[in-house]
Amino acid sequence: TLTQAEKAAVVTIWAKVATQADAIGAESLERLFFSYPQTKTYFPHFDLSQGSAQLRGHGSKVMSAIGEAVKHIDDIRRALAKLSELHAYILRVDPVNFKLLSHCILCSVAAHYPNDFTPEVHAAWDKFLSSVSSVLTEKYR
Ligand code: HEM
Repeated sequence: TLTQAEKAAVVTIWAKVATQADAIGAESLERLFFSYPQTKTYFPHFDLSQGSAQLRGHGSKVMSAIGEAVKHIDDIRRALAKLSELHAYILRVDPVNFKLLSHCILCSVAAHYPNDFTPEVHAAWDKFLSSVSSVLTEKYR
């Protein structure tokens, strides 16, 4: 679990990220599909070319879910319960992919806010994204 200081760091950087959430979401997915092309197999029905409407729409949805998790940082499990069931029971996304997407979100945030991305903020975001991923993959067991 995150310490109070880590939660505060997540909330602070999110206030900035939220203003560009769609762009950061789309960039994160672009990075995911470009660096880890095997992840594209989950999206056979999508046009995954750079800047496509589907890619941007999906990036926006992913970032809203992250925003919900920030808003309910003390109860991420409940906030993302439906999404957890979707990824586990319906989409059946292999949990390893969550680490890859988390890494790409981290890189996008760092690229957009280099001055805010201190080692403390980096560590707090990494831990937060890892909590989100745990919640989204825990139903698999
Ligand atoms: C759908 C969030 C990780 C594959 C979704 C949706 C959200 C979401 C909000 C839309 C749900 C809806 O329409 O009701 C997240 C978050 C993630 C994550 C917050 C982790 C931080 C992943 C990963 C993959 C993946 C790692 C696979 C590489 C999918 C697919 C869909 C989906 C295939 C359905 C797309 C469609 O047909 O519209 N996800 N997701 N997700 N997600 Fe994730």
